[in-house]
Amino acid sequence: MKNIMLVFGTRPEAIKMCPLVTELRGRKEARVCVCVTGQHKSMLKQVLDGFSINPDYDLSIMKEKQTLFEITVNILNKIRQVLEKEKPDVVLVHGDTSTAFACALACFYLQIPVGHVEAGLRTYDIYSPYPEEFNRQVIGIIANYHFAPTEKARENLISEGKNPSAIFVTGNTGIDALKTTVRADYSHEFLTWSLGSRLILLTVHRRENLGEPMRQIFRAVKRITDTHPEVKVIYPIHLNPRVREIAGSVLGGEERIRLIEPLDVIDFHNFMARADLILTDSGGIQEEAPSLGKPVLVLRKSTERPEGVDSGALLLVGIEEERIYEAVTRLLDDNVLYDRMRSADNPYGDGEASRRIADILLGKNENK
Ligand code: UD1
Ligand code: UDP
Repeated sequence: MKNIMLVFGTRPEAIKMCPLVTELRGRKEARVCVCVTGQHKSMLKQVLDGFSINPDYDLSIMKEKQTLFEITVNILNKIRQVLEKEKPDVVLVHGDTSTAFACALACFYLQIPVGHVEAGLRTYDIYSPYPEEFNRQVIGIIANYHFAPTEKARENLISEGKNPSAIFVTGNTGIDALKTTVRADYSHEFLTWSLGSRLILLTVHRRENLGEPMRQIFRAVKRITDTHPEVKVIYPIHLNPRVREIAGSVLGGEERIRLIEPLDVIDFHNFMARADLILTDSGGIQEEAPSLGKPVLVLRKSTERPEGVDSGALLLVGIEEERIYEAVTRLLDDNVLYDRMRSADNPYGDGEASRRIADILLGKNENK
């Protein structure tokens, strides 16, 4: 019997770890323990409810407008007891959040093996995304298992001198989640509202975009709706009050822009499946949208997900108003470009990543 603990704390980690929790709970060789840090609160609960997962531990650390200091310190202080009590054989963390970083660090201090799910993504600019690039690189130093979603991520890890026998290319568990959520008969009042229009789905939340970059992004979106009467925009706003203040001040009160609460994951995936175009600074959405055949304009200076840019599904447009406005306008006007992006390959996995990770952890991996 292997004692496996999974630790996560934010919405995107939960969406990508819940399929793995379900997979591991179905294996008789595994004893599974789920600890959530509560870095997010209601946005995390939405996902746990959606996947019917009750955590064994909830560190409940979230505070309004929390700082990176508070998140890291509070997790380190609270997770120690849980790790010392449960004595897991391995702890799985996901991606690049402060939850993943602080938990991996705690495991290092206690000399508990760490498995890093979604390992090896890199921009090699520790300020972009901030602080996530740093978090992910540090977890890479600590981890004993690197579950790389793509070949490119594996190459990054190899070039850093990681042990090749500890790296496994599995696909991204986010694609596993997508297989269970999108439905042909889905309907929602906001999608009904958007019928007959070209629907842009917008999400913006990154720390490094707070302030002027976010204002520029929103001004570009407003200009798009001002100049394109056929366009409607739906923006499920992240619960970060700093994001909500800026979004409300630039985009509030616009007739063809709906600012709505964060959607449940099932709703959001179905909104993506119906959208014509996605504008986002999110990480996970860059992976999900190509498997739904949706062009994505990435609102960032750099991306640690270059596979989607290379395949043609993603376009990195930056954070300046004029560039964003021009890129969206071009995509709305140029059907050839639009179709090319829509039909680009999804490089992020086949929906079997959780099964592969469980096999590796439980010693059933024949192709090691
Ligand atoms: C975090 C991650 C980021 C990830 C994002 C996903 C870090 C450093 N950042 O950033 O990598 O892309 O989650 O969304 O780990 N809030 C609520 N309720 C919630 C969630 C958030 O009110 O359920 C508010 C709180 O005021 C909180 C603030 O949002 O202080 C920011 O949350 P935080 O986790 O610090 O940063 P994110 O931008 O969400
Ligand atoms: N998502 C969601 N509801 C929303 C917006 C996004 O469920 O209203 C999902 C989305 O499908 C993706 C994940 O949340 O799986 C992305 O999370 P986020 O953008 O917050 O974080 P990131 O991926 O940038 O770390």
